Amino acid sequence: MRHVSRCALLTALLICGSAGIVFADESIKAKDASEAARAGDTSWPMYNLNYEARRYVNLDSINTRNVSHLKESCRAQVGEASSFESDLLLADGRLYATTSLATLAVNPSNCQIIWKSIYHPDRREVAPNNRGVAFAEGRVFRGTDDCSVLALSAETGETLWKISPCDPNAGEYFSAAPIAWNGLVFIGIAGGDFGVQGRMFAFDAKSGKKIWEFHLIPKKGEFGADTWKGDSADSGGGGTWTTYTLDPVSGEIFVPVGNAAPDFDTEPRFGADLFTNCLVVLDARDGSLKWWYQIEIHDDKDLDVSAAPMLFDMNDGRQAVTLASKGGLLYTIDRRSHKLMYRTPITTILSPAAAVTPQGTKTCPGIFRGVEWNGPALDSINHSIVIGAVDWCSILTRSPNTAHQKGEAYLGGTYKMLSDPPATGWVTSLDQQSGRIRWRFHADGPVVSGILPTGGGLVFFGDMAGNFYALDSADGTVRFKTNTGGAMAGGVISYRLGGDQYLAVTSGNVSRFDWGASGTPQIILYRQQPVASTATRENGSPGAGATASPNSDRGKLVYSRVCSSCHGPSGEGLTGPALKGIGGRMSIGELAAWVMNPLVPPGDQRQAVMPRLYPSALSEQEIFDVAAFVGQF
Ligand code: HEC
Repeated sequence: MRHVSRCALLTALLICGSAGIVFADESIKAKDASEAARAGDTSWPMYNLNYEARRYVNLDSINTRNVSHLKESCRAQVGEASSFESDLLLADGRLYATTSLATLAVNPSNCQIIWKSIYHPDRREVAPNNRGVAFAEGRVFRGTDDCSVLALSAETGETLWKISPCDPNAGEYFSAAPIAWNGLVFIGIAGGDFGVQGRMFAFDAKSGKKIWEFHLIPKKGEFGADTWKGDSADSGGGGTWTTYTLDPVSGEIFVPVGNAAPDFDTEPRFGADLFTNCLVVLDARDGSLKWWYQIEIHDDKDLDVSAAPMLFDMNDGRQAVTLASKGGLLYTIDRRSHKLMYRTPITTILSPAAAVTPQGTKTCPGIFRGVEWNGPALDSINHSIVIGAVDWCSILTRSPNTAHQKGEAYLGGTYKMLSDPPATGWVTSLDQQSGRIRWRFHADGPVVSGILPTGGGLVFFGDMAGNFYALDSADGTVRFKTNTGGAMAGGVISYRLGGDQYLAVTSGNVSRFDWGASGTPQIILYRQQPVASTATRENGSPGAGATASPNSDRGKLVYSRVCSSCHGPSGEGLTGPALKGIGGRMSIGELAAWVMNPLVPPGDQRQAVMPRLYPSALSEQEIFDVAAFVGQF
């Protein structure tokens, strides 16, 4: 729980040292930037906050007692009416967001736009959707709907490289928010409903060079190819369209994979159709397959493993991954045995097993419902999983013998969304150990926004009717509700700047469905002054004082959990070097600095470098503790 704020605290301290930030807009003084990265500030450096996608922030200035007084502080106009499903990032003192063509950097305390870069597609635009950026080493990375990947300078918005690794004329495009790790940028192609062949890529963050590619629909001769009938794999689908999760200790990347094509007609397929409707786990370093989990075979309802999963530890220490689908089910899987631990419905589910017929089948799993692009979050206070979802039934109709035409939708039928009952949303809190539902909240509109559990005992999110809510994470009671004037479909994040806790949200998603909320894409900030007594007790004084002195007993536990697999149970060395006698060469501070930022000597081409475990896997405190332990070797 302390983890996030401590890590972020240190990140902010390091950022303080960086200088030379230049604003495109002269009206914003450089002073704002230094103010935006003071000791005690926190950041939100990736789509789901951390690699494990937990989304929990331990900030409590805004809490159950005072949230009813929450005030909007400013709005940034992102651009023309368009789809706005972007995540929000806060990195190096700036907020970042995207629309299908625009990328923006925004001042996180006053909403001023620092730069805005408009992409001019030079090929076919497949679908105008974008879910945001990744950030690493002064660069932001994004995909485009004409199937290119861009690296932009975080300082100026200037394009540093652009690559076009896929074919929009075949219906291939990028809508996912990439993630960055270890000098690599990861993103996969969307377009499953066009009958593409899904692929996942890793690119070098510096140059854009492709490092590996994994076929989410296996090619002939590859593992899994025999799960496809005839040539059906050639138009098999298996797109990936949201974002990704990563275990920085094992170096595994978790890829959610969508439906098989054609969506509503299983006739051309056997049914297993790997790796559609799967969570695919790859070695992030070389793209090799580690394991996978398939939620459904013989899918004729466009189910998808949609959002990025969340990694967490069960109360008994077992490592788990939790994910959800458009079928309205949440699955928690043991990451060692790959066995299902529990499966819990989180929306209305109606005739999930009824086959889609040429006459039309009314069904509630499937297209435009269940869990879409934002997935589960971890409410660390209540040891529970919180997740948003959509309740919306449809009639699906199968058209047998639809031929695949390159680049055209390949649904194998049609769909009709039903207005009675109207589409609504759910937010559900589940006990992380048992999957039992603790509470559920029925929202006015579909819930597809990010979910934000906080240390203030609240869960923030928005709905497509434009409402922004804070629920009490103990029991789901509404503590705050306001209408933002635009459908909320993207990031909902929180951070601390200059002693104040802020919330930043996206509003104004213009989509093909009308939820009663119009509005153009905007970023809205809310702000609350800290309550002095809690701030002092919970957070201590900013800076070095926030860390307790290093404790080698605690460090021993961290060592055996994280370091021993590479450095040997007693520091004798395995894949990592022996650490015997290291205390004679390096001080505790130097050891901690190494673990926070293991360096690869320039020009060193070795694969076996030490993984970066900070700030995602280990807190500052844990690193000092383990340094104290290792120093005694
Ligand atoms: C996945 C394997 C792996 C894990 C996990 C790992 N290390 Fe390492 N570590 C390495 C490798 C490989 C090197 C050598 C890197 C190099 O020389 O560039 C290294 C180097 C080091 C060094 C520098 C050694 C020297 O002689 O300069 C220290 C200190 C260290 N690791 C401590 C730790 C601690 C503490 C942990 C746990 C928090 C840890 N490592 C976790 C693989 C790992």
